[in-house]
Amino acid sequence: MNETQPIGLARGLTQYGDTDFSLYLRRTFARQAGWSTEMLQRPVVGIAQSASGFNPCHRNSPELVEAVKRGVIAAGGLPLDFPSISLGESFQAPTSMKFRNLMAMDIEEMIRSQPMDAVVLVGGCDKSVPAQLMGAASADVPAIQLVVGPMLPMPYQGERLGACTDCRRFWGRFRAGAISAADIDQIEGKLAVTAGTCGVMGTASTMASIAEALGMSLPGTAAIPAVHADRIRAAEASGRRAVELALAPIRPSQVITSASVENALRVLLAIGGSTNALIHLTAIAGRRGIAVPLRWLNELSDSTPVLVDLKPTGQHYMSDLFAAGGLGAVLRELAPLLHLDCLTVVGQTLGERLAGEAPWVDRAVVRAFAEPIHPQGGLAALFGTLAPNGAIIKRSAADPRLFERTGRAVVFSSLEDLAARIDAPDLDVGADDFLVLQNAGPTSAAAMPEAGYLPIPGKLARAGIKDMVRISDARMSGTAYGTVVLHVSPEAAIGGPLGLVRQGDLIRLSVAERRIDLLVDEAELALRRAALPPPPPPPSRGYARLYQSSTLQAEHGCDFAFLRP
Ligand code: FES
Repeated sequence: MNETQPIGLARGLTQYGDTDFSLYLRRTFARQAGWSTEMLQRPVVGIAQSASGFNPCHRNSPELVEAVKRGVIAAGGLPLDFPSISLGESFQAPTSMKFRNLMAMDIEEMIRSQPMDAVVLVGGCDKSVPAQLMGAASADVPAIQLVVGPMLPMPYQGERLGACTDCRRFWGRFRAGAISAADIDQIEGKLAVTAGTCGVMGTASTMASIAEALGMSLPGTAAIPAVHADRIRAAEASGRRAVELALAPIRPSQVITSASVENALRVLLAIGGSTNALIHLTAIAGRRGIAVPLRWLNELSDSTPVLVDLKPTGQHYMSDLFAAGGLGAVLRELAPLLHLDCLTVVGQTLGERLAGEAPWVDRAVVRAFAEPIHPQGGLAALFGTLAPNGAIIKRSAADPRLFERTGRAVVFSSLEDLAARIDAPDLDVGADDFLVLQNAGPTSAAAMPEAGYLPIPGKLARAGIKDMVRISDARMSGTAYGTVVLHVSPEAAIGGPLGLVRQGDLIRLSVAERRIDLLVDEAELALRRAALPPPPPPPSRGYARLYQSSTLQAEHGCDFAFLRP
């Protein structure tokens, strides 16, 4: 390493106007913690921990932090953990997405302002890994992402259940009257029963896979179940490796490159990953000045097969992917499409990593490149008069019979309007209509919640309808499924065409042509635009004000404009 740079506690001294006194004072307080003089001279590895009573997915985090510390000490470093904001997906209103950038700022500034030579980022629940990688990418201190790991599905009355594709499946059956209130109450306690993140290929599992595909996590660690002993060993190994990075830095800027982002996009497509992950990867790449245009996604999607058979698009759980060979098995199949010269945090290139791995794979979970589940990637971007800047459909989780059609719009102007009318007996809706939700985009008061998976109207659900075309500027949980067009941009709240759709308008969807068009002439749209009510006043203070004034649209990752280089 550069001998002129101070390391460990001598880094980034607090300013008192006397450098020697600053170091003396810091050591005084460091000794208050009971460390020996020898320990205080070691390189420092920070450990960003995000345990919280409001984040049950992270309940194994304290155990992992202790294992990271063990690894750091064994390798000759000084481990100092620090807390950050914790984002529990179902515990935050209006949505945890509103606070991802706040956590990213927290992570970035704590890495930068505290004396650490490397950092291990411990997180997992949906927004945590994106926030940690965004912050680390900006701080550009050597960093390793350690995920808490997926929960285990557990048997219940003859079938395995795991959050949260099964949550949605049973709730849909309850809404349709197929199971009783007593049944749904009983099942509530069986869906998420171990530590760890949602056990399907939802956003958390997708981001864990992306972190490994980018090269920011140790090889083979994305899919290790939260409760498996290998998860603890991965934590210890991450701590050990972080000390080596402290002494011979490999920075996020060397790992997160245009080539590794393309690798991560390929993996996102091949695993049938979450639509949310596209927003997050775009934001992470944006921190290094790398653009992820939606047309790039379409180019890659056309040539990347879906290989992994996990819920919500398939049958298996993340723990099955671990047993089937983990992400390495996927990367080996994709190798002809990948940039194998990308550097990873272990100091190897991706190609060197893959060359050194045992070729075990369970083909029930990870298909061969030549025998894919789908020949094209799981996500596609749509453009058209309804979404001039793009929209997303997860075609691997959608019903292909709904891909090429024109439908009548049934419009809900807000989430409140949706909740008030979706189950109304007199709602004017049929199975071939398109449900449209407005004002649920990034800068709306709703802050882009996972509401794009609009419920099937009660009377249609009871009649057996399981899927309809649904269109919004919202997001969708990675654990959800259906023919759902998301992230419509520009959003309704800033005057996008989505806000001009009226009940009964015709909308044409063509996944084959990558189009979504509002079939209303421009003169009529101009009249509607002129008649729009003025936007509500912006929030008067605090984070809400910062959020609304600074959040970019979905195609830019919903990052704050001022956080990009
Ligand atoms: Fe935490 Fe799904 S709720 S990962």
